[in-house]
Amino acid sequence: MTNAVVVGTGFIGPVHVEALRRIGVHVRGVLGSSPDKSRAAAQSMNLEVAYPDYDAIIADPEVHAIHITTPNKTHLEMCKQALLSGKHVVCEKPLAMTAVETAELVRISHAHPNLIAAVNYNKRFYPLVQHAHDMVKNGEIGEVRTLRGGYLQDWLLYDTDWNWRLVPEEGGTTRAIGDIGTHWMDLISFITGLKIVELMADLHTFIPVRRKPRQAVATFVGKEVAASMECDPVHIGTEDVGAVLFHYENGARGTMNVSQVSPGRKNFCNFEIVGSLASLAWDVENPNHLWIGHRDKPNEILIKDPSLMSANARHYNSYPGGHQEGFDDSFKQLYRAIYDYLHAGDFDKPKPYPTFEDGHYEVVLCDKIVESHQGRKWIAV
Ligand SMILES: NC(=O)c1ccc[n+]([C@@H]2O[C@H](COP(=O)([O-])OP(=O)(O)OC[C@H]3O[C@@H](n4cnc5c(N)ncnc54)[C@H](O)[C@@H]3O)[C@@H](O)[C@H]2O)c1
Repeated sequence: MTNAVVVGTGFIGPVHVEALRRIGVHVRGVLGSSPDKSRAAAQSMNLEVAYPDYDAIIADPEVHAIHITTPNKTHLEMCKQALLSGKHVVCEKPLAMTAVETAELVRISHAHPNLIAAVNYNKRFYPLVQHAHDMVKNGEIGEVRTLRGGYLQDWLLYDTDWNWRLVPEEGGTTRAIGDIGTHWMDLISFITGLKIVELMADLHTFIPVRRKPRQAVATFVGKEVAASMECDPVHIGTEDVGAVLFHYENGARGTMNVSQVSPGRKNFCNFEIVGSLASLAWDVENPNHLWIGHRDKPNEILIKDPSLMSANARHYNSYPGGHQEGFDDSFKQLYRAIYDYLHAGDFDKPKPYPTFEDGHYEVVLCDKIVESHQGRKWIAV
């Protein structure tokens, strides 16, 4: 039996715990930012071990896999220690703070080829995203020509909204790009198989000073409570919004808009992939519908239904047509891909999940986006 542990007990840590349990992976315990937080989280999720610190997880021979769901600045050291001590790792995105850090993690993962080194780009595992990937691969939309979309949210709209992601030392130099733009760029490169060869970026911070609560607030909870808390003014250097133009290796053109200050947009990640024969459009707030656009016949909407989907996409459905699958299911399907691969034991096979190389690629793109914005010019990738 594989025993997993989840590190981080904020917004996304419990999502990992629940998804692992749904696929029958035993979650042995949890680590919060203090022994008290570990105990409270272990109790609320009915987990057997509340770890006092990360070293205790590393020292526990019963732990085989570690899921890292803490703020970005902690990812490098935690991933490193896990792999060097022979434990599998599933790390939240972005993989680390800079491309230098992620390159180091790729090197360590290569030195341990029989360990899982995965990054949690869960959006790849919505059933209709897998289907869109198969349609592009099978040539059903022809040559990919333009890629449009982005990721819009509103949870950081007011100067009273606070989160660790706003601070470069905690989240990285980019914020909207690193936090949600990397989800979009990963989604597009997964579906199309295309790499970016050059890019041009424009970033902007509309709220240069925010009120930081004196007490820590969890992600998304900030917008509910921070306005009533005691605060100090803090200068913000990370971007609220970003727009990026991309040139892909096959000549395709891409446009991405990201924002964490768009009123009414809660978690709107969407794409429109335009080919020479057909187009595909999808968004994560309506993930069970895939729009397929045609010129010479009426457009179609494919409602998620395994009986109408590619064999691979069918595998990543748990329920029949009309039975909705959403956010938490995408984590479950990602972990099925990871743990089925692990349990099959053939590490020479192609990996069906996002790897540390994919995580590194995204952080390289973030660095290039900052370089382009600062230099006001196109940058080769
Ligand atoms: N894949 C996704 O869809 C998705 C969604 C949200 C967040 N994330 C990623 O997950 C990570 C966490 O984000 P979040 O929104 O859950 O943040 P959060 O602030 O809600 O939770 C982070 C938790 O980590 C704890 N923590 C901090 N330092 C720690 C340490 N050294 N040891 C143990 N615990 C520690 C904090 O107390 C907090 O409970 C980030 O890297 C983020 O980018 C991914």
